[in-house]
Amino acid sequence: MLPDLDAMERDALAELRTVVDPAALEAYRVRWLGTNGRLRGALDALKSVPKEQKPAVGKRMNEVKSAIEGAFAAAKLTVVALPTGPAVDVTEPGFAVGEGARHVLTKTIDEIVDVLGRMGFAVADGPELEDEWHNFNALNIPDTHPARGPADNFFLGGEVAGKLLLRTQTSTVQIRAMEAAKPPLKICAIGRVYRPDAHDATHYSMFHQVEGLFVDRHVSMVDLKSTLVQFAKAFFGEEAEIRLRPSFFPFTEPSAELDMKMRVMRNGVPEWRWIELGGCGMVDPNVFKAVGVDPEEWTGFAFGLGIERVAMRKYGIGDIRLLFENDARFLRQF
Ligand code: DAH
Repeated sequence: MLPDLDAMERDALAELRTVVDPAALEAYRVRWLGTNGRLRGALDALKSVPKEQKPAVGKRMNEVKSAIEGAFAAAKLTVVALPTGPAVDVTEPGFAVGEGARHVLTKTIDEIVDVLGRMGFAVADGPELEDEWHNFNALNIPDTHPARGPADNFFLGGEVAGKLLLRTQTSTVQIRAMEAAKPPLKICAIGRVYRPDAHDATHYSMFHQVEGLFVDRHVSMVDLKSTLVQFAKAFFGEEAEIRLRPSFFPFTEPSAELDMKMRVMRNGVPEWRWIELGGCGMVDPNVFKAVGVDPEEWTGFAFGLGIERVAMRKYGIGDIRLLFENDARFLRQF
């Protein structure tokens, strides 16, 4: 005898809704879907249905079968064993999540870019992996210059041996900026530079520089000096001063060493001192020629400062290595 299929479907689905744990679910499976289950029984009874009714009844049978199997499959996903054992103690104090902050060097860089930005310097950049043209030749550093030796540079090996190197100075960006755009130009560039120095309290094989370049008609040494004075006061405070000492760089003529009087921390006590920060000068005509700028029409100044120096003096950091060890106890102080 074929059971009432509508009633069977209703009963099966209603019963499934009462199942709340895995044991009851298994019992349900045996009762309805097992080899001796009610669904199997109904399928067997289908044989006794008169031939002409078979298609219609068979179709309905299939619908009921998939409805029950579908509902069972869904129930399997939601009926889960409840955890046994001790309950979670919601009153336990959690772990404190450490609060992050900008690295002291990043902070210094952001401040420098901010001041230079307000003075009209646009930010430019260039690659850390450079060719000899941008790191040397275009900067008026000839092939024979002692600074080009393998002991003073990180040259790459392999197919590009002796051709590509990690840049030793951000002055490379002066060249890239002048190759990319015609004067007038007023740019600054901040980035990493690399030199094979043994690490000690004041040397590291990687450090940061900020470069400035201004090219226009009738730019003079007075513009250079007043720009640097303005920068020093905006960055270090009204009492800051600068002084220029005659020096030599291949890419500037005349060239000067730049000292700034800045407020430095010494044993936790602030004081004003002269600190050597980098170099500067008037762009050498040979540099202009290398990038196709007419030195009769254009003049310019450039400067380059070491950023670690600034940060270390300003914040009283006695060892450059501390800046790169990323010890949170050190970094948290700034
Ligand atoms: N590139 C020089 C260095 O790394 C610093 C420097 C000197 C940059 C004079 C300049 C400059 O732009 O005009 O030692």
